[in-house]
Amino acid sequence: MHPLDAAKRDSYCDQRTLLSLIKLSLDSVSKLIEVDGTQFTLMKHFNYISGELCAEQVPLTEIATKYGTPSFVYSRAALEENYKAYEKSLAGCKSQICFAVKANSNIGVLNVLARLGAGFDIVSGGELNRVIRAGGQPSNVIFSGLGKTAQEIRYALDLQIKCFNVESPAELDRIDKIAGEMDVIAPVSLRINPDIDAGTHPYISTGLRDNKFGIESQKAYEIYKSASALRNINLIGVDCHIGSQITSIAPFLDSIDLMLEIVDNLTESGVNISHLDIGGGLGVRYGSESIPSPEELLNAVMQRFVDRDLTLIVEPGRSIAANAGIFLTRVEYLKFGTEKNFAVVDGAMNDLIRPALYGAWQKIVSVALKSPTPSRSTRFDVVGPICESSDFLGKDRDLMIDEGDLLAVMSAGAYGFVMSSNYNTRPRSPEVLVDDTEVYLVRKREDIDTLLQLEDLPSF
Ligand code: LLP
Repeated sequence: MHPLDAAKRDSYCDQRTLLSLIKLSLDSVSKLIEVDGTQFTLMKHFNYISGELCAEQVPLTEIATKYGTPSFVYSRAALEENYKAYEKSLAGCKSQICFAVKANSNIGVLNVLARLGAGFDIVSGGELNRVIRAGGQPSNVIFSGLGKTAQEIRYALDLQIKCFNVESPAELDRIDKIAGEMDVIAPVSLRINPDIDAGTHPYISTGLRDNKFGIESQKAYEIYKSASALRNINLIGVDCHIGSQITSIAPFLDSIDLMLEIVDNLTESGVNISHLDIGGGLGVRYGSESIPSPEELLNAVMQRFVDRDLTLIVEPGRSIAANAGIFLTRVEYLKFGTEKNFAVVDGAMNDLIRPALYGAWQKIVSVALKSPTPSRSTRFDVVGPICESSDFLGKDRDLMIDEGDLLAVMSAGAYGFVMSSNYNTRPRSPEVLVDDTEVYLVRKREDIDTLLQLEDLPSF
């Protein structure tokens, strides 16, 4: 029964409760939701329909029944819309959107983006392999990362990717040598470390001098000059990536100004650069943060490109995938204590490590809305079964739940499944992609046999 009907029926339903329910119903239409007192835009393609949280048109309860829990559920429409927000903002500018595969590397998800013409930013041979299997074009692939192995470089050269983002002179020498052996020319950008504070969590800030990434901007010009003498390197770009979950535009613009200075110096000395890669990093709303939209960011960025014959490359990950997916988990036990109450769920830090690793906050909601008894809502830490106190998905959450209920951890489409592990010999979750009313299992649940198949007893 829809909670509104239930509320009308039940005698305890006073006028205030009824009003809040009407609001809730309207909110699910206007894509806003109010659970535990705070109101914010919920992920656009995950809404309550008749009191049940759905991925597009499919109730999450159905997905849980069919594929079990815990599981990751993605929305095709959300992925497409988030990608198109970049595409639309870049219209009229020579540009390339390279989705950062590390954010969500499921080949079903990559396929959705490849169909839209996306390029890809990869950081390993494995990710390159995924892109190919997903139908992506190597000629639209950027290879980032500071530890590329010889084997990975050979693989990428063989497939003729668009560009290597190089992070050290040693890597440059290695690429030149391998390209020479293969008798090919490697297209290269240097990743600049601009020493700019992106104002984000220290673990995901990458553009500061003491971060391991990139080439110090003061040395960039000299390194470009010496690289221009390498026989098998073609210098085509300047690159930068200053961090992730960035909530303001200013650090992007500061790093672009610095890159443009380098481009100008190089042009003067006869090295012509054809593209500027500004990396990824735009944040998303997990709660009530205020974040610039891709459009706001790119409008500001493109002002810097007026009168310049440069292609703009962007590498968004989170801002395309995070709010296109949720993590679905079931309450196993409720445990009430003097200091704390715990909702013990079947998902854990091995499935979704962001809360444990960064203290990240992600919204947690009940999949089925219950009849309104606000007094029944209880404060819980939502915890998994792993033997660590860092194994939590959320702390101090006011939830109206019973054992067996389904919960959705929102905004889990980026850096969710990709960072999962088998800690505590827990098979990893399935991944499900919803397209309107259709449901596609794009990764099966692991089982114990698959988990153990690479292990062996010693031969003694
Ligand atoms: N390009 C490069 C070179 C990167 O290293 C990254 C992310 C991106 C693009 C995409 O950044 P995005 O648009 O997704 O912010 N696991 C962390 C995030 C790590 C980001 C690493 N690099 C988290 O869950 O918050």
